[in-house]
Amino acid sequence: MADNLPARAAIDDAFYQSADSFFPAQQGVALTYDDVTLATQYSEILPRDASLETSLADRLNLQIPIISADMDTVTESRMAIAMALNGGLGLIHYNMPERQQLSEVTRVKYHVHGLIQEPIKVSPDQFIGDVLQLIDERHFSFSTFPIVDEGERLLGLLPGHVVRPRYAMRKVSEAMMPRESVHTIPERELQPDPIGRADKFFNEHIGIHKLLVVDDQDRLRGLFTLSDIERITQEKAAPLKPGRDSQFRLLCGAAVSATRNSTGDLDQERIIRHVGGLVERGVDVIAISTAHGFSKGVGETVRLIRDAYPDLPIIAGNVTSGDGVEYLAHCGANAIKVGQGPGSICTTRIVAGVGIPQLTALYVCGKAAERAGVTIIADGGISKSGDVVKALTLSHAVLCGGLFAGCPEAPGQIMEINGKLYKQYRGMGSAAAMKAGSAARYGHTRDATRKVAAEGVEALKEVSASLDSVMTQLVGGLQSGMGYLGAANLRELRNRARFARITPAGQRESAPHDIVEVKTERASD
Ligand code: XMP
Repeated sequence: MADNLPARAAIDDAFYQSADSFFPAQQGVALTYDDVTLATQYSEILPRDASLETSLADRLNLQIPIISADMDTVTESRMAIAMALNGGLGLIHYNMPERQQLSEVTRVKYHVHGLIQEPIKVSPDQFIGDVLQLIDERHFSFSTFPIVDEGERLLGLLPGHVVRPRYAMRKVSEAMMPRESVHTIPERELQPDPIGRADKFFNEHIGIHKLLVVDDQDRLRGLFTLSDIERITQEKAAPLKPGRDSQFRLLCGAAVSATRNSTGDLDQERIIRHVGGLVERGVDVIAISTAHGFSKGVGETVRLIRDAYPDLPIIAGNVTSGDGVEYLAHCGANAIKVGQGPGSICTTRIVAGVGIPQLTALYVCGKAAERAGVTIIADGGISKSGDVVKALTLSHAVLCGGLFAGCPEAPGQIMEINGKLYKQYRGMGSAAAMKAGSAARYGHTRDATRKVAAEGVEALKEVSASLDSVMTQLVGGLQSGMGYLGAANLRELRNRARFARITPAGQRESAPHDIVEVKTERASD
C-alpha cells in the first residue's frame, strides 16, 4: 500500500477476510462462486498491465490461465489451436480412435511455428494422387511439399497449384519445380536469429512464400513459410502472446483414458503406447480426467505414465479433497483438477449425491497442493468472467467447457431451431458420450448391454462469437478484477483476495435489476 494512505482499518479485516480466515470460519458449509464476493483493495495496477502468466508444472507455462475442456463437444484441433493462439491451452478429448487423436495433436503442433524442423516430404516416384490422399488422411491445411531422395537430399519442390485431382495420375517428378529453382538457405547461416533471417529473406524476395533450409550436403533440414513468419512477427507486438513450446510450436494437451483390459486390470501396454504416440507428436501435457481421481485406477495410471516419462507434465483428476490432491501428487501428477459436479452439463450431484461446491473445494484442495508442491486447476461451473477471477484467488488456472462450446471453433454442426442457432454440448458422462468412448472416465465399461447411470446431460448451447471474442471478454474481466484488487499478477491475486459471503438479496443486487434490459454483453455472447 502507498505510504501516504492510512493503515488499513481493522474493520476491513474483520468483515472482508483473507481465504485463511474466511473458509475455516465456514467449516461444514460448502460455498461456490455466487455465494461470495471479493472486496476491492487499494490499487496502483491498471487492468491492462496485470500479468496473467501461470506455471502449472516446470515444463508447462501458460500466458493466460485458461484451458478448454477435454470434452468431445469442446476441444479438437481447431479449438486447441485457437486456445494456444490466445495464450491458453486446449486439451484434446479421447472420445475418438487413438490414431485420430494423434493427428489432431499433429495439426496443432504443425499449425504455425518458425522453422518447421521436420517438414512433410514426398518422393519423386509418388503420384500426385498419393499426395492428395496424404493431405486428406492427415488433414493438412497446406499442399506444397519438398521432394527428397532416399538420403534426404533435396530434389525440388512440389508447388501447391499442381496438387489437384486433374493431375492425380501424374508423377511428382513430372510436376516438380527443379532443385535449381528452389530457394534455400544453408543451416549454418540461421543463427543467432532464425526468424529474423527468414524475415529478411522474404523481404528481399518478393512473391516467394517458402524457404527451405539445407545442410552442407544439400540435405533438407527445415522449412520456413512466409505466413508463419508474418504471424510470428505480428505476435511479437501483441499484448497476449500465444502459448508456444521451445521449438516455437503451439502448446497442445491431450487426454488419455485409464483403460482396462477384458480382465478388468489396467491396460498398461495400451496406455503407454498411446502416451508414447502423443509424446512423439509433441504433446505438451497429458490429462487423465475421470469423475473420481482419488481412486486406485487413476493413481496407477498416473504412476505408470510418470515412470515412463519422468519429465512429462501430467494433469490428473478430478478430486475435491485434500487427501485426493496428496494422493495424485504422490503418484506423480503436477497439476490436479478440482471439481466434482459443478459443470453446466453435470448431474453427478443429482445422480450420485456427491460433490462439493467449487470455492470450498478449491480452498481445501489448495491447502493440500501447497504442501505437496503441485498446482490446482478449477474445473467446471464457470459461467462468467467474475467466476474466473474468484476461481483464480484459490487456484492456478481454470478449465471451461460450456463457455466455449458455442464457439465456431468447437466441434459439431450448427443447427437452427425456431430461427436461433445452436451447437450440441454434452457431458462426457452422458449416455451418448459414454457410448462413444468416455465410459471409463465414469468407472463404467462401454458394454452397451449393461445399464449404467448417466452422470451428464446432452444439451445445446446458443452459437456464440468466435473464441477470440470470448477470450477477449474473459481476459478483460479477469484483468479488471485484478485491477480492483491491486494485483499485478496471479500470485498477488491469490494473496490479496478478501472474501465476504452474500445472501440471495446480495446476488440479486449483483446482477442487472429493476430495468428493462435491451442488450447484454457477457463473455459467452
Ligand atoms: P462447464 O461448467 O465448464 O464444466 O461446462 C465442464 C466440466 O464438467 C465436467 N464434466 C462432467 N461432469 N458429468 C459430470 O458430472 C458429465 O457428464 C461431465 N462431462 C464433463 C468436466 O470436469 C468438464 O471439464
